Amino acid sequence: MALGFFENGARRRLDQILAVDLGSRATKAVHLQRRGDGFSLTRFALLDAPIFEKTMSPEMLAEHLKAVNQAVQAKTKMVSLTASVNDALVRHVEMPRMPVEDMRLILKHNSRGYLQQDLTNYVFDCHVIPAGGDGKVEPAKVAANQGKQKVLVAGAKKQLVEDFVEGAKHAGLVADQIVPGLIGPVNAFEKAMPEVFAKEVVALVDIGFKCTSICILQEGELILSRVVGMGGDRLTTAISETMNISYAEAEGIKVGMPGEVQSALESVLMPLGRELRASIDFFEHQQDRPVAAAYLTGGSARSELILQCLQHELMIECKTWNPVSFLHNGLPSAQAAELEHVSAQLAVAVGAGLAAL
Ligand SMILES: Nc1ncnc2c1ncn2[C@@H]1O[C@H](COP(=O)(O)OP(=O)(O)OP(=O)(O)O)[C@@H](O)[C@H]1O
Ligand SMILES: [Mg+2]
Repeated sequence: MALGFFENGARRRLDQILAVDLGSRATKAVHLQRRGDGFSLTRFALLDAPIFEKTMSPEMLAEHLKAVNQAVQAKTKMVSLTASVNDALVRHVEMPRMPVEDMRLILKHNSRGYLQQDLTNYVFDCHVIPAGGDGKVEPAKVAANQGKQKVLVAGAKKQLVEDFVEGAKHAGLVADQIVPGLIGPVNAFEKAMPEVFAKEVVALVDIGFKCTSICILQEGELILSRVVGMGGDRLTTAISETMNISYAEAEGIKVGMPGEVQSALESVLMPLGRELRASIDFFEHQQDRPVAAAYLTGGSARSELILQCLQHELMIECKTWNPVSFLHNGLPSAQAAELEHVSAQLAVAVGAGLAAL
């Protein structure tokens, strides 16, 4: 899925891409290259995110992208950027059958009619969900829908898209895609776990710094997505308050010896777990299908203890998965050893890259 906000429906697929996940705490970048039938990961980088008030200016983005590009040493100018879960909305909508270009125009002029919100100065992109979910069209279903179709709509402020394009340009790059961050793990999961993706009902949970997203997939179709305003930052803050220590010390304990602060972690993960469980309950009630397991990514998914605490709240198996498992390892040897520790954090970047390839 691309949902890239650009009018490039019939565009060519690229051979290589620099994909940059602009997280609120950490920027994650990967360089992906086509290799035979698959793809190769030739470089990755994690950098501190720039600090800004409300939105990142194009100038600041340009400086940051220059630093990213230097770290990754990408051999391409084409870049795929992510819009955060707060900057890009993703919704399911029913729309009449028509070309995607027309849908985008209709949404632009009548966002309230379809999204129950006045979204002026937004740009939209649409992904038509095949009837039957697995691509098999059931004639009876189509007839019952009276020519309507299910569409996954992504929307972002026009200004944000323009700023991203501008920022990339000033860094000597060309923005090929701007992908809603939420879509990243879905794209990567499809490639990394094709069997589970196609046949099961699972929840993909990405625990970020400020936010956590949950996407529920049923046999290859994204059915439900939600964002909860809680992430790694809240965990560290809670530890620092409970123990009366600085944020930096709390962060060190959380990452280095989380067992020492287990009860603080448990109590702050409880509300997050409850919110996620509520989304799962909602899905299960609506679709009458149980969610088999939750697959976690994001920085906090690196912690076994956090995983266990969430599993306790969600009451389904919570596991990590490797979003780079399907990629040929083309990394320099110094990076190859490091990859194992950070791969859970790269899901969004990998998915944003796949949207362009
Ligand atoms: N080993 C670890 N154990 C626990 N937490 C960790 C570990 N490594 C990183 N984190 C946490 O992960 C968080 C950063 O995760 P991530 O890079 O996924 O966020 P982000 O993408 O920048 O944020 P967002 O998605 O909300 O924009 C930080 O809060 C950090 O403390
Ligand atoms: Mg993130």
